[in-house]
Amino acid sequence: MKPLTLCFLLTTAVALGLIRGPSAAADELDDFMRAKLIHSQNVVEGLVLGDFEKIGKGAQEMSLLSLAATWQVLQTPQYIEYSKKFRKSADALSEAARKKNLDQATKDYNVVLQRCVECHKYLRDVRMARVD
Ligand code: HEC
Repeated sequence: MKPLTLCFLLTTAVALGLIRGPSAAADELDDFMRAKLIHSQNVVEGLVLGDFEKIGKGAQEMSLLSLAATWQVLQTPQYIEYSKKFRKSADALSEAARKKNLDQATKDYNVVLQRCVECHKYLRDVRMARVD
């Protein structure tokens, strides 16, 4: 086979998704994790519109994500603890939405956001430690 033909075939195979690069799993994880951002944006929208259904749905989706196998990226006690605290805050938000308590939901959302930031800060710290 001519090199050019081989090159063409390989490019086509990659384009068709026949050959999945090592980044396929990483992409999947990225999409999964990015969903948190979408749900939290939906919650913000729900909060400003006073749409409790929207708040509750976003909160539940976030809680569910944290239970999925894909979520368990690290098995460290800290990661497990951050995950637990995140889920707890999402569940509290869900409860506030169910009770149609906008002030409480706003406070709970702030806690959820704090949990996002904490875990991500931890992840960066772990990575830094690995590089050293
Ligand atoms: C218990 C830990 C934890 C919590 C809490 C958490 N995340 Fe993440 N997040 C991760 C991990 C692990 C990844 C995937 C690996 C990475 O990108 O560092 C990730 C990835 C992401 C990404 C993709 C980043 C990229 O590089 O594309 C976004 C966006 C994100 N998270 C948003 C959020 C938001 C918003 C919240 C809160 C609603 C949140 N995360 C809460 C652990 C967490």
